[in-house]
Amino acid sequence: MEAIPLIDLAAPYQAYKDEITEAIETVFSTTRFIGGPALAAFETQLSNYIQGHAKQETQGIHAIACSSGTDALLLALMALGVKSGDEVITTPYSFIATAEVIPMLGAIPVFVDVDERSYMLSPSLVEEKISAKTKAVLPASLFGAPADIDEIAKICQPRGLAILEDAAQSFGAFYKGRVSASLGDISTTSFYPTKSLAAYGDAGAVFTRDALQAKRIRSLLNHGQEGTYFHTEIGMNARMDALQAAILSVKLRHYDEELKRRRAIAKRYQTELHASPYAVQEIHPQAVSVYSQFSLTAKTEEKRKKTLAQLEQAKIGYGMFYPLPLHLQKAFAHLKHGPGDFPIAESLSKRMFSIPVHAFLQDTQVTRIIEVLRGVS
Ligand SMILES: Cc1ncc(COP(=O)(O)O)c(C=O)c1O
Repeated sequence: MEAIPLIDLAAPYQAYKDEITEAIETVFSTTRFIGGPALAAFETQLSNYIQGHAKQETQGIHAIACSSGTDALLLALMALGVKSGDEVITTPYSFIATAEVIPMLGAIPVFVDVDERSYMLSPSLVEEKISAKTKAVLPASLFGAPADIDEIAKICQPRGLAILEDAAQSFGAFYKGRVSASLGDISTTSFYPTKSLAAYGDAGAVFTRDALQAKRIRSLLNHGQEGTYFHTEIGMNARMDALQAAILSVKLRHYDEELKRRRAIAKRYQTELHASPYAVQEIHPQAVSVYSQFSLTAKTEEKRKKTLAQLEQAKIGYGMFYPLPLHLQKAFAHLKHGPGDFPIAESLSKRMFSIPVHAFLQDTQVTRIIEVLRGVS
């Protein structure tokens, strides 16, 4: 029986090998490994992608390439002026990077539980957590679906609170005619190799409409430098490699084709697993996901265990994102949370699993996955 991996990194490389080789060789031949034309071209391509796909006006989005999705979040918080003692409201059900960057600036992550069906920050719970110290709200778009930004904005805008959209998993998803990675006052994404738009190493980006903020982020990611060897503030080295930019330029050219395939597979799962014992992640009715993962929940932890055993036996790859919510991680012990503080995040972490949805999956493989899941009672 042929194994079906959760994510296939070999297939896209084989498909785009000639283009990738040419792009890499161009960087080598020009020896512009940091900055240079490959990076500039990719940044332009990124902002054009967002502007070109928006069904509503998305003017002047600045795309700033950087070293990772984590550094992108840190840069965004720095650009928002988050500092020691400030509070940032965020989700306990995400990859640790979403919340990890907050204490790195001496600020305090304030968790809010998630919605049972979308798995994302519950906008109705945000208001009660706002204090005089709140500086920003940081929702994470999960598994390719955008967070319900407009509902969060209804709470943030009248209070002058910034929204930082963590679009690490949702670059290019649609939300009410806008494009994910341009939904927040400032947005970030990741091009980690397993993301839907993937580099061949670490890479990320920050997006903003504010030209001054964009200029500051470009300086912050390059040691706070404004002219060669002149530094106006403390920054970091968070630049994207030109090689990754060149590879990502090739990948972005094929992104829409890949999303079409991911969405077709997701549609089959949604239809054909409808009568199965699992609930699929609910997408906002005015949103279109990029399905970086296709995620479901079993009714109980025990049922998930049984399902995963069946998938293993059928050699079908699966993921569990995330087995321990952030408020229960040792790294956040100083926040003094305990079990029961965010019951929905805790319950999802015990019941959720992902199945393969990548663009190179064959129809016969999708059929096999559906058959195995339908056979699990
Ligand atoms: C929701 C979320 N935020 C942030 C990150 C951090 O991105 P990176 O791994 O590129 O630092 C990731 C992914 O890894 C993520 O899934």
